[in-house]
Amino acid sequence: MTEDTLIPDVTKAPSPRERARIALSTARRRTLALADCLSDAELIAQHSPLMSPLVWDLAHIANQEDIWLVRRAGSRPAVRSDLDPLYDAFRHPRADRPALPLLDPAGTRRYLADVRDQALDVLAAIPPGDGFLFGMVAQHEQQHGETMLATHQLRAGPPVLDAPAPPPAPADARGLPREVLVPGGPFTMGTDSDPWALDNERPAHTVDVPAFWMDTVPVTNAAYQEFIADGGYDDPRWWHPDGWLHRKRAELVAPRFWLRDGGTGWLRRRFGHVEEVPPDEPVLHVCWYEADAYARWAGRRLPTEAEWEKAARHDPATGRSLRHPWGDDPPGPEHANLGRHHLRPAPAGSFPAGASPLGIRQLLGDVWEWTSGDFTGYPGFTAHPYREYSEVFFGPSYKVLRGGSFATDPVACRGTFRNWDHPIRRQIFAGFRTCRTAAEDAR
Ligand code: AVJ
Ligand code: FE
Repeated sequence: MTEDTLIPDVTKAPSPRERARIALSTARRRTLALADCLSDAELIAQHSPLMSPLVWDLAHIANQEDIWLVRRAGSRPAVRSDLDPLYDAFRHPRADRPALPLLDPAGTRRYLADVRDQALDVLAAIPPGDGFLFGMVAQHEQQHGETMLATHQLRAGPPVLDAPAPPPAPADARGLPREVLVPGGPFTMGTDSDPWALDNERPAHTVDVPAFWMDTVPVTNAAYQEFIADGGYDDPRWWHPDGWLHRKRAELVAPRFWLRDGGTGWLRRRFGHVEEVPPDEPVLHVCWYEADAYARWAGRRLPTEAEWEKAARHDPATGRSLRHPWGDDPPGPEHANLGRHHLRPAPAGSFPAGASPLGIRQLLGDVWEWTSGDFTGYPGFTAHPYREYSEVFFGPSYKVLRGGSFATDPVACRGTFRNWDHPIRRQIFAGFRTCRTAAEDAR
């Protein structure tokens, strides 16, 4: 995983073609790093019913590239159209995938390489335009990289992944205000101009967001432990009714991967390492229902998606929406913990250079942040290039997460990027921050 820690700056590439080439090759290097550390048996095994066998993810990555770059962008014959049904995510639920006649690991690697040869040939031969399909496929591969990393986290057995710890929190982290006032008024949500923004981030539109107070940093393990110690998991007052039913049925008592240390403290299992829960790290592996309950216990609430995006992008000095909290520069290691560089969140208060204009930190990277809202299309949404990327998930079954995690590649992370999952899911690298509505006079 060492050369995997490089984050090439695709946005500084000299041309859309070069940008696409770098994004594809970076994604591939990182995909293979997650596979090459495991035996064939471990690639074929299903490590959790929530996840696919890793060989399924690998061949699915190749199959999407076969469909979108070889056939659609290149108008070439498929490398293997016979594989389409096997690797169609909508045809087989994850739990059923191990029983399918999947390609073996060697055949899977060959399929990945054969498709990639053709895709790079297409890229060299055809003007890529803004390169959207190439960007979409590179983002797809990186998103599956994050999914594959979640599979690694669920896997039992000795550790196979290692990475340096993130830098310690800066000196001013302890003195930060708990919350920051985001003034009321309109801002631009979503984008029309980002060439690789996906369909659900479009179109740009104006949203009037009343004033609110936003947490300066994500909720930490220490703060979350206070909720646990105060009996938060045993008090239905704090929980959404569906969340309370789920909390009882699933017997939730703490974030996923936490273990009692034999006394009153907690340990956690992280990629096979058992370690003390670091008090100042953002809490990780909580579901939406847990985040929602914590916020109510704290006398606060989860931000709406518009509040989150305004906090992350709105520059009060210019009225403009920035690409990232710190501005339009691409993410560097001083801005955010992204890109599987560190296999854990950085301490709360890290990355002053990545703060928003109002001083809110760690909006991008570290942990995905649950927002209060359901996943829906923005006004004027049109599915592009296929309904199954976003549109079929719109509705009350999915909550939106924002900001990316330590496992998210920068190519699939920006102030407009939207992720979604069921409110009971905890294997994703998700935490949250809270907010509260400001009094009238703040407007
Ligand atoms: C955006 C992370 C919810 O993994 O289901 C992968 C990304 N879409 N293949 C998912 C995705 C198609 C998607 N999420
Ligand atoms: Fe996929």
